[in-house]
Amino acid sequence: MKNKIEKILIIGADGQLGTDLVKVLEKDYQLLTPSIEELDITDFEKTREHIKKHLPDLIINTAAFHNVDECEKNPERSFLVNTLAVKNLAEACKEKDIVLVHISTDYVFGLDRNRKTPYTEDDLPGPVNIYGISKLAGEYCIQYTLDKYFIVRTAGLFGVAGCKEKGRLNFVETMIKLAKEEREIKVKNDEFTSPTYTRELAEQIKELIKTNYYGIYHITNHGECSWYGFAKKIFEILNLKVNCQAVSSSQFQTIAKRPSYSVLENKKLKELDIDRMSHWEEALKKYLKEKGHLR
Ligand SMILES: NC(=O)c1ccc[n+]([C@@H]2O[C@H](COP(=O)([O-])OP(=O)(O)OC[C@H]3O[C@@H](n4cnc5c(N)ncnc54)[C@H](OP(=O)(O)O)[C@@H]3O)[C@@H](O)[C@H]2O)c1
Repeated sequence: MKNKIEKILIIGADGQLGTDLVKVLEKDYQLLTPSIEELDITDFEKTREHIKKHLPDLIINTAAFHNVDECEKNPERSFLVNTLAVKNLAEACKEKDIVLVHISTDYVFGLDRNRKTPYTEDDLPGPVNIYGISKLAGEYCIQYTLDKYFIVRTAGLFGVAGCKEKGRLNFVETMIKLAKEEREIKVKNDEFTSPTYTRELAEQIKELIKTNYYGIYHITNHGECSWYGFAKKIFEILNLKVNCQAVSSSQFQTIAKRPSYSVLENKKLKELDIDRMSHWEEALKKYLKEKGHLR
C-alpha cells in the first residue's frame, strides 16, 4: 500500500545518517532540515511550535544522546533526549496526523547472555545499559501514543559524514587512523554486531516510507561479525599491514556494559519482500569507495 508523503522534516540532518537521508530523499521530497539551534528536541514547547508551523507529512528523528558511556554517567540527559523528547515528538505527530520515523538501536537487546542467533522484531527486548533502556522507553512512548510510526532499529553505523557524537569518526575511520599511526591495535572479539552503511539504510528507509506498513523494523546490512572481524576486513580490503590483536572485552574498562550479541535480522523487510540491504562486507567496500579509501 502507498503512503502520500510530500514534505519531510529530518531531525539531525547533519548527522551521520541524517546526511545520507538528505542525499537520498532530496530529489523526491520537499525537505526541512533545521539545525539543532533551530530545533532542539529537548525544548518541548519550541519543538511543537516548529512542527505546527511547518506541518510536515512525515518526521524522521535521528537525534539521540548515544555515547553509551556518557549515557551511563548522565541518565537524566539520556531519558530527556532518548525518551521524553521522543514522547513529545510522538504527541505532536498525533495532534497533526504526522507519520513518525524514529531511529532506534540493537542495544535494546543484550540481556540474554547466551544468545547466538539474530534478533527479529518478534523478540522481547532487554537492554543492558542506560542508553538501551532510554531508547527502548522512547520506542514504548511512540507505540503507546501513535498508530502511524516506523521504529527502525539499526546497528554499527558507518557513513561518509562520520558520527557527530564521536567527533565525525566511525569505527571504520577510527581503525584506518590507528593503522596509519602504526600502533598495535587491540579489538574486541567477543561482541557481535551487524555493521550498517548509512547510505543503504537511508535508501531502505526511503522504500519503507512509501508504504503504510507501520511498526517496528530491524534494518541492518546482512551478516554479522565481532568488532575484531570488522577491523580485520577493513585492513584486508585496504591491504593495510597492521598488528591487530583479538582481545576479550574484559580488557577494556568501560562504564557501561555492552551486549555480547546484538545482531539483528531484517525479518519484516524480508516478509514484505522489500529488503534491499546488502551483506556488510559489500556495503563496507561501497563505503570505502565513496569515502575515497578504495578505487
Ligand atoms: N552510530 C551508531 O553506530 C548507531 C548504532 C545504532 C543506532 N544508532 C542510532 O542512529 C541514530 C543516528 O546516529 P548517527 O550516527 O547518525 O548520530 P550522529 O552523527 O551523532 O547524529 C545525530 C544528530 O542528531 C542531532 N541531535 C542530537 N541531539 C539533538 C537534540 N536534542 N535536538 C535536535 N538534534 C539533536 C545531532 O546534532 P548535534 O551534533 O549538533 O548535537 C546530530 O545532527 C541515533 O538515533 C542513534 O541512537 C546509531
